[in-house]
Amino acid sequence: MIPPKQVQEILDATRIEEVIEEFVSLRRRGVNLIGLCPFHGERTPSFNVNPARNIFKCFGCGKAGDAITFLKEHENLTYPEALRWLARKYNIEIQEVERTPEQLAEMQLADSLYIVNEFALQHFQQQLFDTDEGKSVALAYFRKRGLREETIRAFGLGYAPDERDLLLRKAKSTGHNPELLKKVGLCSQDGGRDFFRARVMFAIHNLSGKVAAFAGRTMSSEKTIPKYINSPETEIYVKNKILYGAFQAKKAIRQQDECLLVEGYMDVISLYQACIENVVASSGTSLTEGQLQLIRLNTQNLKILYDGDPAGIKAALRGLDLALEQDLNVRICLLPDGHDPDSYVQEFGGEQFKKFTTENAKDFIFFKTDLLLGETKGDPIKRAGLVKDIVSSIARIPDPIKRSVYLKECSALLEVSEQVLHAEANKLIGQTIKKREEKAARQPSAASDLPPAPPPVYGEDPFFPPDPGAYFPPSEAGDLPPDWPQDSQPSRPAERKGGAEYQERDIIRLLILFGSHILPNEQISVGEYLLADIEESLGDFDNPLYGRVAAECHAMLMDGKTFDQHYFIQHESAEVANLAIDLLAEPWEFSPNWEAMWNYPLQNQPMPERNFPLDMKQALDRFKLQKVQKMCGINLQRVQNASKEGDHDAMIRFMKIQQKLNETRNEIALRAGTVVFGK
Ligand code: CTP
Ligand code: MN
Repeated sequence: MIPPKQVQEILDATRIEEVIEEFVSLRRRGVNLIGLCPFHGERTPSFNVNPARNIFKCFGCGKAGDAITFLKEHENLTYPEALRWLARKYNIEIQEVERTPEQLAEMQLADSLYIVNEFALQHFQQQLFDTDEGKSVALAYFRKRGLREETIRAFGLGYAPDERDLLLRKAKSTGHNPELLKKVGLCSQDGGRDFFRARVMFAIHNLSGKVAAFAGRTMSSEKTIPKYINSPETEIYVKNKILYGAFQAKKAIRQQDECLLVEGYMDVISLYQACIENVVASSGTSLTEGQLQLIRLNTQNLKILYDGDPAGIKAALRGLDLALEQDLNVRICLLPDGHDPDSYVQEFGGEQFKKFTTENAKDFIFFKTDLLLGETKGDPIKRAGLVKDIVSSIARIPDPIKRSVYLKECSALLEVSEQVLHAEANKLIGQTIKKREEKAARQPSAASDLPPAPPPVYGEDPFFPPDPGAYFPPSEAGDLPPDWPQDSQPSRPAERKGGAEYQERDIIRLLILFGSHILPNEQISVGEYLLADIEESLGDFDNPLYGRVAAECHAMLMDGKTFDQHYFIQHESAEVANLAIDLLAEPWEFSPNWEAMWNYPLQNQPMPERNFPLDMKQALDRFKLQKVQKMCGINLQRVQNASKEGDHDAMIRFMKIQQKLNETRNEIALRAGTVVFGK
């Protein structure tokens, strides 16, 4: 177990934007950072990161949380794994306290597949570097192919000797469970043989650098032996979501704002060694949507390097319409006959490779047009088919400006009028939209298609602050992106719940956002001040969830414990965790169309982080005012009942109470600057 003090140290060091940047390319938009959401496919960014609050939220799919949540969801980590991940990133050495057997078992289970792969990696590396056979056979093979030792290590290359069950035996003798080896495909299903034998080994990493799978290449040129064999799909190796080399390449891809795509493992490795690091491989299969999304998260520019025959290339081009749909700018580069990227760069070097690919890369649409034009010479029917084919590719491009540029250019190449091409493209786009609508009608996704709910109405209730800015945390609306998703849903309760909803929510908001902040002149925390002030109303919350949170906070303070944002975001009750996220994300929740639609001006105020003492006092006043007002109503009923029953003494007593309540109410109202109607 990680001691609590260290947990705090890790959390304090964590900058959410630095964590998320490891997986998603972000750019600044005012005080927030935005990017494409890694949890659902999208082309316009609705994934927001707020560094000041250390949280993220996607307005498209609703995923939200802090860095821990992100790692748990995105990397499939458990809570302690996420902490360890962060500790590694921020170079914090964890002195773990002894784990209980139960904790051990749990961890083992969650991590076990990666652990067994890591064990196998070490075994393959040891066989490569530390055995005579490894050195003379496998290491010599890699050297012959031009790889240096640092490259061999960076990519986790290894060697599996030609032995029946070397890995299995070693696993058993070091306490690894053979069932797990079976599960990740490292041995046969009967548990009798190693899967990889007499092969040089390639580790396949996931995006965060853990070994998800292996590939093994034979060193023999015997045609009957498959050149490569690969691990099967498992929970941790989902083939259509992994790109070989992505872990090593992702930084360079972002820096250079371009991704090179090659076919083979060796291509990636040789290019990387030649200082061309922004390379990934599709591993010989056609690109899947998941892989394209992964690329799109990091850059919009994709350059594909092809070797091989025209037939193969033609087949590959078909899959690339998917890339256009993702709004990727696709360029194609053919290597000189007989070369693949690996052999080219090994022979001519990195600089020449860069030069060649820069000079010879062609835009995908033009490449395809040229390639197909060559085949249709003098055949009008084939030519008509070609026009349709090209236009159907162009019609996939979401950006209308780009589309029309392509149509113009292709009209010249194909010698077909631009109008005809436009008409054809529009027909296809219309069909796609119709299909999409039909699909949506078959499976209505309740929330996302509804218009945004109107914001609550202010000022109609005398006890509700007429100034929305007084209730809402200051908004950062000026920083909202212009392409804010149309269907972003405010998570704030849309309709008015009981009269106390907003006042109570406000108290909870302050507890969660600023509970542990120390008030400048009071020497106590916001949480202590708030809860001491409303102690007698703690059982009086109308909203049970808010009541529960307040009571829990109170109990913790009584126990001498503290709480902060992180505590609530990771709360064991999902209801509480969601509430915390909603409250934390609230200032982002205004979308420009909201403002226009409801004629609801957004306020500009100091950042909430600076405004919290005043914010707190106002919230308390509003909360108390609401409670007093409620008491007034109850007591007035008592007066009337006593009067009906002719109980004169009781009537006098209740009227005195009423007077007191009214005084208190007016006092608070005066302070809060709220007009109170009625007596
Ligand atoms: N591939 C595979 N299984 C095979 C052949 C190929 O999985 N039997 C995949 C591998 O990912 C390989 C890629 O397809 O890297 C491209 O295949 P190929 O061009 O034949 O291999 P290279 O990567 O060029 O490997 P080498 O240079 O070692 O021949
Ligand atoms: Mn090759």
